[in-house]
Amino acid sequence: MEKIVVGNMKMNLNEEEIDEYVYKISKYNHSNIELFLAPSFIYLEKFKSGKFNLTAQDVSIFYDGSYTGEISASQLKSIGVNSVIIGHSERRKFFNETSTIINEKLKQAFFQKLKPILCIGEDEINSLEDTFKILKLELENDLVNIDINEDLIVAYEPVYAIGTGTVIDIERIKFIINKLNQYFYDKYEKNIKIIYGGSVNEKNIEDIVKICDGVIVGKMSLNVEKFMNLIDKIK
Ligand code: PGA
Repeated sequence: MEKIVVGNMKMNLNEEEIDEYVYKISKYNHSNIELFLAPSFIYLEKFKSGKFNLTAQDVSIFYDGSYTGEISASQLKSIGVNSVIIGHSERRKFFNETSTIINEKLKQAFFQKLKPILCIGEDEINSLEDTFKILKLELENDLVNIDINEDLIVAYEPVYAIGTGTVIDIERIKFIINKLNQYFYDKYEKNIKIIYGGSVNEKNIEDIVKICDGVIVGKMSLNVEKFMNLIDKIK
């Protein structure tokens, strides 16, 4: 089965760097990977012709109208975006996004048939059972009153592992991924794709993709060569 790789470029790269990125990435083809690329909004159009899922890093809670600075799911859809990252811990932390807001964003994404990549994660290391309880609560709140479908991708990202180089014990990740799979199966009778994120690198990616459906990569996605070398590790 194809593994998912999401490149979350966050608020990085200027236009010249993006042009070079777009040029270089067009030379690669990974048949065993479903690639999602999430540059800043202003660069989405430049990635349009690529062989990957064009992904936004965020979406408005509103459908349309007088909301200065916002970008709606239908606007994203209209330029060829087919997926969106929702509830990244940086948005929860720096932009005070609550589960209520994330829930509205998820509804907009599902309504426009954009694949939502919902990020969840605990702030600090806890026992495995407590960690799962935190994640379950997060999911229950984020997904309240949403009739989910298999477009949903859940990214499990322990917050303390994001951008820190902290490598999480693989058995820990495995336990949580299994519990999440079970949760979606029991509650929704659906196989939802679960990916992992947080300091994914060339040393840990092989082990991580063996136990889940893929990865979400921040820092390592900013340089095309390094990013493609990383993906090459997925057999
Ligand atoms: P990182 O970021 O790979 O730099 O840890 C991952 C993410 O924020 O999704």
